[in-house]
Amino acid sequence: MKILKHGCWKRAFLPISLGTALVVLAGVVPVILDVDNGEAARPAGVYGKDWGDPKGEECVLCHRKHTPGLNEEWNKSMHGQRGVNCLDCHKADGKDKDSFRHKGQLISVIVTPKDCARCHTKEFEEMDGSHHSKGGQILASLDNLLGEVVGGPAAVNAGCKQCHGSVIEIGENGKPLPTTWPNTGIGRINPDGSLGSCTACHGRHRFSKAQARTPDTCGKCHVGPDHPQIEVYNESKHGILYHAKVGEMNLESDKWEAGVDYSAAPTCATCHMSAGGGETSTHNVGERISWTLRPPISVKNNLVKLKNGDEFDVPEGKPLPKVGSKAKGSKVTEVLTWKERRLKMQNVCTACHTDSVILGHYNQFDKVVDLYNEKFAKPIAAVMSDLKKSGKITKSPFDEKIEWIWWEIWHHEGRRARHGASMNGPDYTWWHGIYEVAKHTYFEFIPELEKVAGKKDAKELLDKHFKPIAGHSWYFEGMNPAQLEAVRKGFEARYGKGSLK
Ligand code: HEC
Ligand code: HEC
Ligand code: HEC
Ligand code: HEC
Ligand code: HEC
Ligand code: HEC
Ligand code: HEC
Ligand code: HEC
Repeated sequence: MKILKHGCWKRAFLPISLGTALVVLAGVVPVILDVDNGEAARPAGVYGKDWGDPKGEECVLCHRKHTPGLNEEWNKSMHGQRGVNCLDCHKADGKDKDSFRHKGQLISVIVTPKDCARCHTKEFEEMDGSHHSKGGQILASLDNLLGEVVGGPAAVNAGCKQCHGSVIEIGENGKPLPTTWPNTGIGRINPDGSLGSCTACHGRHRFSKAQARTPDTCGKCHVGPDHPQIEVYNESKHGILYHAKVGEMNLESDKWEAGVDYSAAPTCATCHMSAGGGETSTHNVGERISWTLRPPISVKNNLVKLKNGDEFDVPEGKPLPKVGSKAKGSKVTEVLTWKERRLKMQNVCTACHTDSVILGHYNQFDKVVDLYNEKFAKPIAAVMSDLKKSGKITKSPFDEKIEWIWWEIWHHEGRRARHGASMNGPDYTWWHGIYEVAKHTYFEFIPELEKVAGKKDAKELLDKHFKPIAGHSWYFEGMNPAQLEAVRKGFEARYGKGSLK
């Protein structure tokens, strides 16, 4: 793509100023478009008809003085280059409750996914209905109780909702209320009823796909103690190679097919969104994952898509509706089993790897999830449920220490282990992961259980839920002598006789 140099905004705008847009553009477009000869999705419209509203020129002329930085970004963007102007995106009609009159035009500050969909239907439809577009619907969650009640609403607004999305409220003057905007959370609930925010990933006003392909884009939200995907990625070989060879990543490429347009390393977008290994690109980040690693106990999920654009997960083992049947007030158009979702991801890997690496990776990953589920999560969840039933703890969450211990085990440490194993971050799998889960199970959860239930009842609960699991025998019966002897010998071989004190 041709980037205009600073001060050359008029060239981007030239076609409109001359009023001979189509003639000039007809000569220019093929040259610019032919960057890659890719099969990337194109907006269906044409300049001068579907965009390039001549009244938009005034916005540019004036905003060039008032917000020069914003204009410069727009000018350098594909939109600026192709003549998509301010009014094309900010235009509103009287029906929009977020519209107001501004220098003679009816506009709105908020530009929703529906507004983008005027020209980018494919991306809109793929994202709509996905977990991303629903990220703002967190009211009925434990996290939300923790945020709103235990913490406080101000922290939810400037914290949670900046990642998840707020419900944007509009004031009398048609402008968004400062308590709910700025906000570019992934599942923002917009005044026109649409869900999500495209600028969560495509920073404005450049709206660059190259920028969206970088891991840092996802790392704004996929970060921290409870979902450290960016940290996991950065410590993986993939992340290391990406940073070392970012100059070879060809991020501006049009179709950006893994293994063809670049080969140095995959980014988050490569595996979850972009084209590669026969897979076409998608704005539905859920399509290629088989587990959900978020809840207390992980399950494998099948995906059901509906005619009305919505979709939902169905856990493995639960009845799956058939294509064509009715579900949730609409009709089923596609069913992706967890195996098919997994295969999509594995296809992407095949752009750079063979089966031995790919299947080996999934084997090791699945086993960590099983270990976490079976040895730790299920027995603790069963004990917690018995405590609640017997009235030893109250029904309300977060008012007892034992609930915080369990919360951190599954929501922080257990997720870290699962996320580390899914994306090759060994330190997160073990030291920040299963190590913490184990330590806090044996030396926080169990001691707290003895306080809450009394030693006798605690023993009964442990005998019922923990003892039958082989992995806990070391705790109840001590380590077996053969294991200890092997360790002593290993130590002595490395560090000399008598080294294991
Ligand atoms: C004559 C100058 C001028 C023109 C023409 C103009 N603007 Fe503005 N615009 C401003 C100034 C100055 C501000 C900041 C002060 C304000 O809110 O009025 C602004 C603010 C805005 C805002 C933010 C409003 C808010 O409350 O946050 C948007 C969005 C906007 N303009 C878009 C446009 C669009 C789209 C057009 C073309 C239809 C346009 N402007 C035309 C000068 C102009
Ligand atoms: C491709 C669509 C698109 C185009 C073209 C576009 N904008 Fe925007 N603009 C947005 C989006 C998206 C936002 C963020 C609003 C939101 O959160 O929904 C925004 C926000 C704004 C804001 C308020 C945010 C701020 O940083 O102050 C102003 C002012 C604004 N745009 C002016 C302009 C002007 C002037 C132009 C033309 C030079 C322009 N926009 C072109 C999509 C666009
Ligand atoms: C009026 C039509 C129109 C609207 C509305 C519109 N776009 Fe675009 N968009 C285009 C055109 C035209 C291109 C250039 C496509 C090309 O030639 O490759 C483009 C390109 C893009 C690209 C590719 C940029 C790159 O670096 O290659 C992204 C990303 C994008 N738009 C996002 C958005 C988002 C997000 C919104 C809403 C905030 C939006 N667009 C609104 C017409 C539009
Ligand atoms: C730094 C950004 C960020 C902040 C701050 C944040 N979250 Fe999240 N949240 C995420 C991401 C990213 C995920 C998805 C993690 C994954 O898939 O592993 C998530 C997952 C969740 C989920 C699980 C959704 C599901 O489908 O299972 C809930 C509920 C939730 N967050 C609520 C909250 C609440 C409430 C707060 C504040 C008290 C909060 N989050 C703070 C980014 C954030
Ligand atoms: C989760 C981050 C994310 C969100 C949210 C997002 N995008 Fe994208 N977008 C990307 C990535 C990554 C790419 C590059 C995909 C590729 O490599 O094929 C991209 C590419 C694009 C392109 C260029 C397509 C092409 O093939 O040239 C358009 C247009 C676009 N996005 C529009 C949108 C619109 C409209 C929305 C909102 C409905 C949106 N995006 C929301 C990450 C995002
Ligand atoms: C090499 C490919 C690859 C890369 C690079 C990658 N991922 Fe993943 N990701 C995976 C795989 C594989 C899974 C597990 C899939 C499954 O469940 O079958 C996964 C799972 C996830 C999940 C689901 C977690 C949950 O709680 O259920 C999220 C969110 C995620 N990745 C985000 C990211 C982000 C953000 C990045 C970049 C910082 C990234 N991924 C980089 C392959 C990748
Ligand atoms: C603005 C915050 C934000 C950004 C940026 C973001 N995500 Fe997410 N992502 C979330 C939240 C929040 C969720 C959980 C939504 C829910 O289930 O309610 C999520 C969920 C996911 C999931 C799980 C989907 C599923 O079906 O379970 C994947 C995979 C994912 N994101 C990948 C990505 C990738 C890749 C990028 C960058 C290209 C990215 N995300 C950028 C906030 C974000
Ligand atoms: C764009 C190419 C590319 C894609 C796509 C890709 N990888 Fe990789 N991967 C690499 C490179 C390059 C290395 C580094 C090889 C090395 O130095 O050992 C690597 C390393 C690995 C390693 C570590 C191997 C080792 O010897 O330590 C594993 C495991 C791995 N990838 C699994 C996957 C999986 C699973 C997927 C798909 C979900 C995937 N990769 C997708 C390029 C890719």
